[in-house]
Amino acid sequence: MARNSNFKSPDRLDSLQGGASGKSSVSYDGGKARDESLKGVDFERRSFLGKAVGGIGAVVAAGALYPVVKYIIPPAEKKVKEKDEIVVGKVSEVPPGSGKIFQFNKDKVIVVNNGGTLSAVSAVCTHLGCLVQWKADEDLIYCACHGARYESNGKIISGPQPLPLAPYTVRADGDDLVISKA
Ligand code: FES
Repeated sequence: MARNSNFKSPDRLDSLQGGASGKSSVSYDGGKARDESLKGVDFERRSFLGKAVGGIGAVVAAGALYPVVKYIIPPAEKKVKEKDEIVVGKVSEVPPGSGKIFQFNKDKVIVVNNGGTLSAVSAVCTHLGCLVQWKADEDLIYCACHGARYESNGKIISGPQPLPLAPYTVRADGDDLVISKA
């Protein structure tokens, strides 16, 4: 019994040294003889396969993480320099008795032609931010959301809005309609 568990017995050491000294050029794997020179080839194949699987895994992981990272980190906002004065359209777009909303930088501005006199104010209602419109039959600016009424120069007539509409400057330059900051 003791002999079986003694790894330092002379018989056992002989057999181990014989195997390590290279006396035998054949190893046995699962009962089959295999050339010692194939060991290196097998190792290289496993190493290559390991790297290939690792590389594919990295590509798949990167592909899965990319949209998550893009979602978490918002893109840097491009700083667009605001202009003080912009040609927003043609004078003919706002005939007498009408009003039209134009884009001025990031703002919406309503230009009103009230009997030939042009005026421009913010088109965003100061109550809850709805866009206003020109109500030609009453000659006023109206917000349909909760009934706010403003004069064409933005002053409050009636309604729930806390503030008048912010003023802008508008002028005709030939055929061009030009809005600038007030
Ligand atoms: S948002 Fe204009 S009246 Fe309420």
